Amino acid sequence: MSDVLVSARGLEVHFPVRSGGALRRTAGVLRAVDGVDLDIHRGETLGLVGESGCGKSTLGNALLRLVEPTGGRVTFDGTDVTGLGRRALRDLRRRAGMVFQDPFASLDPRRTVAQTVAEPLEVHGLRSGRRERAARVGELLELVGLDPAVAGRYPHEFSGGQRQRVGIARALAGEPDFLVCDEAIASLDVSVQAQVLNLLRRLQRKLGLTLLFISHDLSAVRHISDRIAVMYLGRVVEVGPASAVGAEPQMPYTQALLSAVPVPHPALERSRQRIVLRGDVPSPADVPSGCRFRTRCPHAFEPCPGVDPALQPVGAAPGHVAACHLHGVVGGPVEREGTVASAR
Ligand SMILES: Nc1ncnc2c1ncn2[C@@H]1O[C@H](COP(=O)(O)OP(=O)(O)OP(=O)(O)O)[C@@H](O)[C@H]1O
Ligand SMILES: [Mg+2]
Repeated sequence: MSDVLVSARGLEVHFPVRSGGALRRTAGVLRAVDGVDLDIHRGETLGLVGESGCGKSTLGNALLRLVEPTGGRVTFDGTDVTGLGRRALRDLRRRAGMVFQDPFASLDPRRTVAQTVAEPLEVHGLRSGRRERAARVGELLELVGLDPAVAGRYPHEFSGGQRQRVGIARALAGEPDFLVCDEAIASLDVSVQAQVLNLLRRLQRKLGLTLLFISHDLSAVRHISDRIAVMYLGRVVEVGPASAVGAEPQMPYTQALLSAVPVPHPALERSRQRIVLRGDVPSPADVPSGCRFRTRCPHAFEPCPGVDPALQPVGAAPGHVAACHLHGVVGGPVEREGTVASAR
């Protein structure tokens, strides 16, 4: 059995850009996901970070085939999911699910908690009798820290954190192997975020789940993830163990992202050097040539506009890779250490 549960190779999701005219001709293409190579290992939590609009949700959706890739390949447990028929796709839906950002929007207000949580059981024919289903719903509610007695209540009777627990219970109903948590704590109060984060961590360990944890919140990602992947303009530009990416980021973009995270220690916080990137993120409909980060990179040099850098091993930790010309070229990390270090 391979160590990799979910894998993307050259994955692309390009959306047509329509002109504003009456004919709405296709005027171009928006490269939401643009050549992503990524492996997610069994039983790990992989954090996925990057600025708004860089393609995190589209990537998560493409891995679950909730959006159709326009190029490349996704495999789940060794099976290519790009060409699955209806039946196989239903099996994928059971084994790989999604926890959404806004539990209120994703729960049907007219259905009780029991109906909501039982729905996947019905769809996948998992517990046939009424009593078996009710028992399973009770188990699932307990698993996420809710009293099974709440099964008859409606979403509006719950707090945001409780609603997110219901959403998690539903996502777990089919006994999935893989969950994508897309900004799953973003709409919760800060005090509740930590509780839901810890719940996800506990469930991941207890059930041996594989998690893709998508978030703007780098502190949360560092807290929960075994490895971290950083996305910029449709591409994964750095991946590695959370400790290595967090402490020794190798790609200037990751260094800038991390420099914006407050440190919970007054002296360290005072000495923190924030790297402010120049310019705005280019449009994914007009991606720069060569390294797509070069227009904002404080270290851009000769090869950057001409050559699109591939992910390659960087730093000291095994499995740490980054797509950056500062590494692996003559005049690379060693000669340019001064420049890289100054960016930290
Ligand atoms: N269905 C769609 N049709 C056209 N463009 C889309 C569609 N879905 C997403 N996009 C565009 O693709 C790009 C990536 O969007 P995506 O939602 O994946 O980013 P994100 O990293 O999840 O952002 P956020 O952090 O704000 O959630 C954006 O430019 C977005 O406008
Ligand atoms: Mg998103």
